[in-house]
Amino acid sequence: MHPSAVLPLASRASDLVGSVIDSSTSLLASQTHDIVRFAMGSPAPEAIPTHTLAEIGVEAIGAGAHEAFDYAATEGDPALREALVQELAGTSDETTLARLTITSGGMQGLDLACKLFVDPGDLVVVESPTYTNGSATARSYQADLLEVPVDGNGMQVDVLEDLVRRAGRTPKAIYAIPTFQNPSGATMSLERRCRLLELARSWGSMVIDDDPYSMLRFEGEPVPTLHELAEGDPLVFSVRTFSKIVAPGLRVGWVDTAPELQPLLINAKQAMDTCTNHPMQRLLARFLSGGHLDAHLETQRAEYGQRKRALQQALAEHFSGRARWTDPEGGFFLWVTFEPALDTEALFPVALVQGVAFIPGNAFSPSKRFPDALRLCFATTPPERIAEGVRRLARAIDRLGTA
Ligand SMILES: Cc1ncc(COP(=O)(O)O)c(C=O)c1O
Repeated sequence: MHPSAVLPLASRASDLVGSVIDSSTSLLASQTHDIVRFAMGSPAPEAIPTHTLAEIGVEAIGAGAHEAFDYAATEGDPALREALVQELAGTSDETTLARLTITSGGMQGLDLACKLFVDPGDLVVVESPTYTNGSATARSYQADLLEVPVDGNGMQVDVLEDLVRRAGRTPKAIYAIPTFQNPSGATMSLERRCRLLELARSWGSMVIDDDPYSMLRFEGEPVPTLHELAEGDPLVFSVRTFSKIVAPGLRVGWVDTAPELQPLLINAKQAMDTCTNHPMQRLLARFLSGGHLDAHLETQRAEYGQRKRALQQALAEHFSGRARWTDPEGGFFLWVTFEPALDTEALFPVALVQGVAFIPGNAFSPSKRFPDALRLCFATTPPERIAEGVRRLARAIDRLGTA
């Protein structure tokens, strides 16, 4: 029986749509056979700097570090905020203490942005395809979502303009993942970034600038972040996380916003979780101030570049003429579209039996526009296993065809 039949649920409960991506963690954990995991957007297990974290952890949160187990300041542990400002100095995400609020991962940043800016019925622009949990967050605040197509240069900003004109109302917020987009891997061109900011200013729309991957560029030339291009414009709300650059289980991220917004962010966070996990903040503060992040990122970039190329090569071997795929210059994901069309949701259980997992394309569109696509995360799997995973995927497609 559905809970709404017996419980006085709030109207927003029916807008809580969940995440196929997150649910795949428990689904995969319950499987007992060998599976090549292209599904979750997780860093390579061997890329998590566990030795360094364990070593510095003794001092940061080991015996005697009682304070690390107390509540932290809501805006974040001072040592982490300070270390982060120093880490970001000279980068496209350069910032100041007054702009920084530490969050419980990038997801809390997205939740705070929607909590502060989205009323029920507001129009919120999302990319199509987009990050499942980002659109789900806007929906959980009962937004009306407007999907704007993405191509090789990111969100099609001219189409956005057109769609907004046709909608007859301006968006309250525009949710963009400008760099190595999840799921397509596309990077929004500089020209489109500038135009997006211009449009947002003309409409008075908040830009939710969700950019967890830009430090993971392994090819090509960097493009300035929306944060940098905005030059302090309060309409840009930047969401960042340590999940992809260090480890997702830490659950630590940050938002970078106009300083005037911080008291409201603090009020919102105090009504949510009081503060972000203090021991993990202390651990990260040490990791940054010890200079470990830069060396770590350098190794990761080289490794992820190899993995992307291994995945593209394996796809070319098995799917030439049957599918096309993107060519990201960084990040974690490749987006594969099958031609002729193939039902990737029906493929998923068959592939799981064959020992390979991915996320079906429809998970990335509130109106399910991508039945014939799928997302593959190349970051988690070493090159030899990538080849095996694609072999299994090809076998699953053959089985699906003959079922
Ligand atoms: C675009 C994007 N935003 C936000 C997140 C969530 O980050 P976190 O795990 O830090 O909550 C992810 C994670 O996959 C992501 O890809």
